[in-house]
Amino acid sequence: MTALLEIDDLHFAWPDGTQALRGVSLTLEEGRSLGLIGPNGAGKSTLLLHLNGILHGSGTVRVRGTPVEDWPADDLRATVGLVFEDPADQLFMPTALEDVCFGPLNLGLSSEEARARAMAVLEAAGAAHLAERPPHHLSAGQMRRVALATVLAMEPELLVIDEPVMALDPEGREAIIGLLSALPQSRIIASHDLEMVLQLCDQVAILDEGRIHATGPVRKILSDEDLLRAHGLRVPGSLSES
Ligand SMILES: Nc1ncnc2c1ncn2[C@@H]1O[C@H](COP(=O)(O)OP(=O)(O)OP(=O)(O)O)[C@@H](O)[C@H]1O
Ligand SMILES: [Mg+2]
Repeated sequence: MTALLEIDDLHFAWPDGTQALRGVSLTLEEGRSLGLIGPNGAGKSTLLLHLNGILHGSGTVRVRGTPVEDWPADDLRATVGLVFEDPADQLFMPTALEDVCFGPLNLGLSSEEARARAMAVLEAAGAAHLAERPPHHLSAGQMRRVALATVLAMEPELLVIDEPVMALDPEGREAIIGLLSALPQSRIIASHDLEMVLQLCDQVAILDEGRIHATGPVRKILSDEDLLRAHGLRVPGSLSES
């Protein structure tokens, strides 16, 4: 069976010459959830930007067997929902509600349907009270919730989220973890919050200096102290207390 996502020997250098990806290969089967971990500058965000065609490196990225460059851009973005590391990159409308409605309207929903869906995901993300606010006046954590809602409202087949709980207060973090864990979609989550990765992912890949150094079941990788330390990471508290 064709994997949902296949990345094969992906290389990418930024225009200034910084080599961010040096031959990344990864496969994600339907229904799986992958945590992408690694130190600052490892290439996590750069890699995620390739999954819905924002960046194009050399090598191949296939979604459902079709190279991303062969997908119509709108179809690809409706299938692979990417939540950016910086939520300000995701929000450009006058109000949060309009930002969350934008995707569903593009998918062809009526304005009533789009609004209903948008309000439901804003509610689920703990951001319903922010619906009428200009996104760029929101706090970092509020903005992150709205940015997540813009992607959830598209109901993509693959959710790709760069740091879903960064800047969230503890209650918000718990709420977002609860929300994501209840979603049926396949997902890829890049984060330094390894407790969250443990809760939300069944597999983990360690990326460092643009290369994948290990992949495996979440508990096996996240309890391997030597492996994690070699890549600037630490065993999460819940796995180190024995
Ligand atoms: N716009 C850019 N121009 C040039 N180099 C960049 C750009 N964005 C990122 N880089 C470089 O690419 C490499 C990978 O960065 P990336 O943001 O993908 O890392 P990351 O693993 O997401 O790190 P973090 O944990 O800090 O989010 C780094 O060396 C970074 O300095
Ligand atoms: Mg990053």
